[in-house]
Amino acid sequence: MQRHNRPIIVLDFGAQYSKLIARRVREANVFSLILPFNVALSELQKHEPAGIIFSGGPASVHVEGAPKPDPGVYKLGVPILGICYGTQLFADMLGGKVERAAKREYGIAHLNHTDGTSFLDGLDSRTQVWMSHGDTITKLPPGFDTIGTTENCTYAAIADATRKFYGVQFHPEVVHTPQGSKLLSNFVHVICGCASDWNMGSYVESAIAAVREQVGNGRVVCGLSGGVDSSVAAALIHRAIGDRLACIFVNNGLLRKGEADLVQKVFRDNFHVDLHYVDAEERFLKALAGVKDPEEKRKIIGKLFIEVFEEEAIRLENVEFLAQGTLYPDVIESVSATGGPSVTIKSHHNVGGLPEHMNLKLVEPLRELFKDEVRALGKELGLPDEIVWRHPFPGPGLGVRCVGAVNKERLDTLRDADAIFIDEITKAGLYGEIWQALVCLLPVRSVGVQGDERTYEEVCSLRAVTSEDAMTADWYRFPPEVLQRIANRICNEVKHINRVLYDITSKPPGTIEWE
Ligand code: XMP
Repeated sequence: MQRHNRPIIVLDFGAQYSKLIARRVREANVFSLILPFNVALSELQKHEPAGIIFSGGPASVHVEGAPKPDPGVYKLGVPILGICYGTQLFADMLGGKVERAAKREYGIAHLNHTDGTSFLDGLDSRTQVWMSHGDTITKLPPGFDTIGTTENCTYAAIADATRKFYGVQFHPEVVHTPQGSKLLSNFVHVICGCASDWNMGSYVESAIAAVREQVGNGRVVCGLSGGVDSSVAAALIHRAIGDRLACIFVNNGLLRKGEADLVQKVFRDNFHVDLHYVDAEERFLKALAGVKDPEEKRKIIGKLFIEVFEEEAIRLENVEFLAQGTLYPDVIESVSATGGPSVTIKSHHNVGGLPEHMNLKLVEPLRELFKDEVRALGKELGLPDEIVWRHPFPGPGLGVRCVGAVNKERLDTLRDADAIFIDEITKAGLYGEIWQALVCLLPVRSVGVQGDERTYEEVCSLRAVTSEDAMTADWYRFPPEVLQRIANRICNEVKHINRVLYDITSKPPGTIEWE
């Protein structure tokens, strides 16, 4: 089935930026895929690439076992763009020379070019670029010309226009190369001849067709969590197969204020989805009574979720498929920096570990998408901003934010504080700037004074972080008056909290959640 026109393939040489390159290409409205550098040539050809981008990478072309592609890649007649290591690599493989640079070039430089090639078309004749390399090209391979230089780099941009091989020793994909997107756009549109046909409007139709093709006349069950991924997956599948989709939403008692109502309103009332709402609050709270250890909490919550989900799912008849909101970053094979053949594939299970005997086949309609594309798709499908722009929320929910004992009273306290925090962040127009904002209720009491009375109540800690992918995070710098308003409101409006802290730990060494 032809889902998109020919893609741009990013060959990953272990660069931290491979995903960014693929995203930049998609931002130029061209579909892109990441494959490991050592992908078999036959596999690469199966994708019928319109162009290939060699990513950067931490290795030097001279080290033993330096990652190298199948040399057949140069014979495919497909345009190639090298970035940093990628350029040095093809320079080396095609008969040029790469040596250790006298001085490692790192940081901002300026590309000068007078070249009239379409590759650099539209770029200022002197434009800022971001460099980060220890090796450098000292002799061009046959057929290549220099088309751009920087103060320290004679071969900052090179080209063999006949074979359509282009290379830059800087990083066009990062924000410090302000005209980098233009350069990538030139490569994919002008050099590779790709049309701007990758956008969510046109993707919706092909994604719907793909679901219909996979599912046939079968029925699909989907675990809805209220998060963006499962919501978009459900909305898409519903658009494709209507009431042959059944959604199960488990209220585990660990949800945020208003969350259960929101999910029911959106999916049952607006979309008319066959929604099975399971109120399992009591079961979860009973199982969690007296448990303080974070790992134990997670295990109990995870296991019980599967039990409850399965009980509900087996009541549905003739279900063959299970929908999951797996995203592209979870399916990309990641390449080890040394270029060993080892590839680790992260698996992702929103309803992790559903019993095998249920024998359900997976439907993963978001497998090709980055998170921002999932959001665009959600908008396209008519989901409200409240869901589309929702911060991530962990599976074990408030269970891991209610530090120490978990019970209804403490959860209600936490829910109230959390709602105020999110409300004030939203009112201040900051929600979209923050990756994730949350409140933790601490198992600590402190003395306070309210009116003329001494209080002895609980302490909460606010956490708001910026992040790219949750692997690392930094604390968000709030304007002090916003923090002040939040603290005032929490102490005044939430019955059992009389002290508010702001967590300024980055990750690492901290984690985003407290437990
Ligand atoms: P940490 O706390 O490890 O969290 O820095 C990183 C991101 O993952 C989320 N998170 C989870 N998500 N199940 C989930 O679905 C979990 O058990 C879980 N634990 C953490 C967390 O909210 C943050 O976005």
